[in-house]
Amino acid sequence: MRHVSVDAASGRYEVVVGEGARHGLAALLAARLPTCRAAAIVTQQRVVDEGWLEELDPGVDASLHVIEEGESAKSLATVERLCAELVTEGVSRRDVVVGFGGGVVTDVAGLVASVHLRGVALVQLPSTLLGQVDAAIGGKNGVNLREGKNLVGTIHQPIGVLCDTAVLATLPAREWACGNGEIAKYALLTGGDPVALATAPLDERIARCVEIKADYVGSDERESGRRALLNYGHTLAHALETAQAGRRDADLRHGEAVAIGLAFAARLAARLARIDEARVRQHDAVLDVFGLRGELPAQSSASTIIELMRSDKKAHHSLAFVLDGPSGFELVEDVAEREVLATLRAMGAGS
Ligand SMILES: NC(=O)c1ccc[n+]([C@@H]2O[C@H](COP(=O)([O-])OP(=O)(O)OC[C@H]3O[C@@H](n4cnc5c(N)ncnc54)[C@H](O)[C@@H]3O)[C@@H](O)[C@H]2O)c1
Repeated sequence: MRHVSVDAASGRYEVVVGEGARHGLAALLAARLPTCRAAAIVTQQRVVDEGWLEELDPGVDASLHVIEEGESAKSLATVERLCAELVTEGVSRRDVVVGFGGGVVTDVAGLVASVHLRGVALVQLPSTLLGQVDAAIGGKNGVNLREGKNLVGTIHQPIGVLCDTAVLATLPAREWACGNGEIAKYALLTGGDPVALATAPLDERIARCVEIKADYVGSDERESGRRALLNYGHTLAHALETAQAGRRDADLRHGEAVAIGLAFAARLAARLARIDEARVRQHDAVLDVFGLRGELPAQSSASTIIELMRSDKKAHHSLAFVLDGPSGFELVEDVAEREVLATLRAMGAGS
C-alpha cells in the first residue's frame, strides 16, 4: 500500500492507495474514531451491483444510503433526504459518514457529513479514477443549483481516504477517460513528464496525483490563493456541464469537460499573448497522451457559455480563468469578452 499524508490547516489525514485498501476501513475507524458505533455508507446502486460492498466491514453497525446516478443527484434535495435518514437511524456526533462511489457520491457524502448535526466524521472510499486522483481528496464538497455547478458546499476534511485500486476493475472505459482529464490537468500544472505519469503502474499514478493535490491543499486549504489553480480548465468545463443540465441528451461527463476546458484555456492564453503556439501544441500533446479530445460539443453556443462562465463562483461577475503565462499559471480576472468569444468561435462554437 502507498500512503500519502494530507496536511490541511484543519487536520492531517492519510490517503491509502492500493489493491484492497477498502478493507482497512474498520482499522481506520478504530484508530481515528474509537467512539464510533455506526457507519452511514453513502453509495450508488452501480457500486452495490458490482459487488463492492459485499465484504466491506466497517467494524460497527452499517446502514446503506443509495443515491441516484449523475449530476442531478448532487442536489440539496438529496442532502436533505440523507440527513433525514441519518437522524431517523440515530447516527450521532460520534459516528461516521462513509462516501463509497465516484465524485458525485463523495461530494454528496462530504456535504452531508459536514452538516448532519453540524458536522460528523467522514471517510472517503472513492471508487472511480477521478474520485481517487481528485474528488475525494482535499475536503471540498458541493451540490449543484439550477444556476450552476457546486454552488452550495463546504470544506470538511475526511479522517481518512481509502483508494482501493481493486474496485476500478469494473470501471467503464469512459470513466477511465474522465479520470484522465484531471490527471492531464496535474501533468500540465506541474510540468512533469506526461508519458511517465500516464504509463506508471496504477497505484503509483494515483498516489502521485494525490501527492500533487495534497501539496496544493496543504498550502491553501480554503482556496484563497494557490489551490484555485487546481481549477485549471474548470471555468469552461463547469459552464459546459451547466449548459447541458436537465437536457435529455445531456452526455458530457465532468472529466471530458475538463479536457475541453484545458484545450480552451491554452488557446485563450495564446490569444492574450501569454503563451506561444508551441505551448498550445504541448497542451494538445498532453491531452493526446491521455487519449483525450479537446473539442467543444456540437452546437455549443458561445453566448450561453460566456453567460454561464460569468456566474462561475470564482469569477465575481467578470470573466476569470486560470491561465498559463510567462510567470506560470495564475488566476487572470477581467478577461475581455471579445477575446473569450473569439477563442470559442475559433474552436467551433456558434453564436
Ligand atoms: N470535490 C472535489 O474536489 C471534486 C473534484 C473533481 C470532481 N468533482 C466532482 O466529481 C464528479 C464526477 O465524478 P466521477 O467522474 O467519479 O463521476 P460519477 O461519480 O458520476 O461516477 C461515474 C459512474 O461510475 C459509476 N461507478 C462508480 N464506481 C464504480 C466502479 N468501481 N465500477 C463501476 N462503476 C462505478 C457510478 O455509479 C457512475 O455511474 C463531478 O460532480 C465533479 O464536480 C469534485
